[in-house]
Amino acid sequence: ELNQNLAAMAESFAVTDDKIRDIIKEFHRSMHAGLAKDDPEVLPMIPTFVNRRPTGKETGRFLALDLGGTNLRACQVELRGDTTYDLVQQKFTITQEAKESRLWDFIAECVGIFLEEHDLRPPEGRRTIPCGFTFSFPIFQTGIASGNLSMWNKGFTVPNSVGRDVVNLTQSAFQRHHVPVEIVAVVNDTVGTLMTSAYSFPDTQMGIIFGTGTNAAYWEDLARVGKWAGGPGGEMVVNLEWGAFDNATRVLPYTMHDNKLNRKSSNPGLQVYEKMISGLFLGEVARNAILALVDQRLLFAGRSSVILNKSYTFDTAYMSEIVADESPDLDAVRTVLEATLELPPTTLVDRQAVRNVCTMIGARGVRLSAAAMSAVLLNRPELLAASVSVGIDGSMYQFYPNFERDLYCVSRVFLGADFVDNRLKLHLAKDGSGVGAAIVAMTVEQERVAAA
Ligand code: BG6
Ligand code: GLC
Repeated sequence: ELNQNLAAMAESFAVTDDKIRDIIKEFHRSMHAGLAKDDPEVLPMIPTFVNRRPTGKETGRFLALDLGGTNLRACQVELRGDTTYDLVQQKFTITQEAKESRLWDFIAECVGIFLEEHDLRPPEGRRTIPCGFTFSFPIFQTGIASGNLSMWNKGFTVPNSVGRDVVNLTQSAFQRHHVPVEIVAVVNDTVGTLMTSAYSFPDTQMGIIFGTGTNAAYWEDLARVGKWAGGPGGEMVVNLEWGAFDNATRVLPYTMHDNKLNRKSSNPGLQVYEKMISGLFLGEVARNAILALVDQRLLFAGRSSVILNKSYTFDTAYMSEIVADESPDLDAVRTVLEATLELPPTTLVDRQAVRNVCTMIGARGVRLSAAAMSAVLLNRPELLAASVSVGIDGSMYQFYPNFERDLYCVSRVFLGADFVDNRLKLHLAKDGSGVGAAIVAMTVEQERVAAA
């Protein structure tokens, strides 16, 4: 009976090539609708006000602040002007309290510590240090240094923030804490990743995050952005916010285990795609699927543990360890189940089944990730004639077993073997979105000086 259940589960998590073709089609429909006008039913497709590609020759030292879904990084970036950079950074884990209430003060405190430890002061003749701010949540940008928060996700729920300008909120906290910093540019983390990658690889067309959350940004021709009312043509980076793709689950292989997670999340019905792909959620989908087998007495002789019964205790990092375990007795799987999750002694059959479940859910995530990347590249088919670099960052891309290899492998089917094997380059832009924010901030500062 266990095998029958696993087979049915595998089918429900499967994403066939035909399914991916449907997803790509729906992606294009949703992208085009989102470029035409703002509509909560389709992809947000947010114009970012970033309209100059880096040359790689930019030089100088800049402050950047990088708010991800798990860490806050304060960075000092030195662009060397030869397509390379130096990064001095201090990483602060974002506390639960900050995620739920005092985020803005937390940010100001961390920046204060960074300035003090590195003895950073405003440059001659200025009262503040200019700074690029990477912000990894959706904001509707009203300018290069302003944007209103459209919603929280990835478990953040800070009150009195939605609808407000996140630069103002941060800047007010800087004032309260006497931190002499001025944010001159705010960019999404995908935009930061895109710019960082473009600094080193001029053929970069896309920036992607496969991490705690997932999203991407790409260069779009402004003539195709119907909703852009900001003047002359040219191109601009558009932040897709693809985590919000197909919230209505028209085409996605959405299962009861996803539904359980979704219903109990802080944003039910939203970021549905993200919840099927990214690091914050995959372990929880797996936990739901494992518990469904326990409830049918098909695993662990029908017994669970206090830890496994609690939401979000089955980290995606455990999934990585489990999927990577190829030992005959599945010893690493045993350690996770028995030592970490404190389950009663397991059998080899239990461990194989758990590994099987994790593999299905991980594979679905990678296939959906490849579908999204392929859809964006296919949206501008002319790009596929030349070489294309994609800058990528995030814990899934870095740590999930064979993630990059599988991304190449699945994309081949949809983008063509010749393009993927010979012209597509995926680059890890590690910790890099702060660098991108610094590059954008530098451009803004140069324009300000030129205008003065
Ligand atoms: C970091 C980037 O390296 O990766 C952040 O600098 C980004 O801007 C983050 O948000 C995403 O990865 P994760 O796994 O921390 O969500
Ligand atoms: C979430 C955010 C998005 C961000 C992504 C990756 O999807 O909405 O802005 O880019 O996470 O961090």
